[in-house]
Amino acid sequence: MSSKKIALVTGANKGIGFETVRQLAAKGITVLLGARDEKRGAEAAAKLRGEGLDVEFLQLDVNDTASQDSAAKVIADKYGKLDILINNAGVAQDFRISASQATLDQWRTTFETNVFSLVSLTQKLLPLVKKSDAGRIVNLTSILGSLTMHSDPKSPIALASSSGTAYNASKAAVNMFTVNLANELKGTSVKVNAAHPGWVKTDMGGEEAPLEVADGAKTSVILATLPDDGPTGGYFFLHDKLPW
Ligand SMILES: NC(=O)c1ccc[n+]([C@@H]2O[C@H](COP(=O)([O-])OP(=O)(O)OC[C@H]3O[C@@H](n4cnc5c(N)ncnc54)[C@H](OP(=O)(O)O)[C@@H]3O)[C@@H](O)[C@H]2O)c1
Repeated sequence: MSSKKIALVTGANKGIGFETVRQLAAKGITVLLGARDEKRGAEAAAKLRGEGLDVEFLQLDVNDTASQDSAAKVIADKYGKLDILINNAGVAQDFRISASQATLDQWRTTFETNVFSLVSLTQKLLPLVKKSDAGRIVNLTSILGSLTMHSDPKSPIALASSSGTAYNASKAAVNMFTVNLANELKGTSVKVNAAHPGWVKTDMGGEEAPLEVADGAKTSVILATLPDDGPTGGYFFLHDKLPW
């Protein structure tokens, strides 16, 4: 079993995932950069290796069971454990489409990636995370998954609160999985938390987002490297707890 810490970040060929790989590797962690596309994933990993970082490309289409299985086998065979799993891959299909108009197809494709694949990959990798002496699972959620904030007309997301319902609901489901899995694993060395990265300038967040990607990766990195007395089953932006 590797003595160095091993992390996997899904959907890491660009955006917040790519930057999360960079920041974790800069802490001396061996990071597997998960990406569904061979070429873009290998290029992204090579770029970070060029910065002197210990980063390897791992082919992983989170929606493909065979790809999940082979990624799990690579990690088991090569490292024998997984210290950090960051479920970062995500899609948004219905931003700016109202609750009454989003199609079932948009709901299904959103839930496929953001929820079902996240659950199945986590279940598959959990035995490897349990082999770590300080396992950390970080699920990328959003402030848009907060029922409390959607139902408060004074909340900062009130204006976005009648659209993007499939995306918002998918992140609320991620929040529920996070808190239930964390409760199941209480008393073990594995912590499970949900990370809101902020509104970040990426292909998903858009140009008008206030945060640069370097800041957008910070919450994931904080939760991935929590000390033993850190929280589990929480919903965070940086160190701040968000209302469910
Ligand atoms: N940006 C924001 O303001 C913001 C705010 C709140 C939450 N988030 C969350 O943060 C996470 C990262 O978002 P981002 O802004 O960095 O988005 P992004 O730039 O659109 O990147 C999304 C990443 O997910 C990957 N992905 C999508 N489907 C995949 C699949 N089936 N298998 C493997 N990878 C897949 C994409 O790969 P391809 O390049 O191959 O498509 C890409 O690498 C998401 O979960 C998002 O919901 C973002």
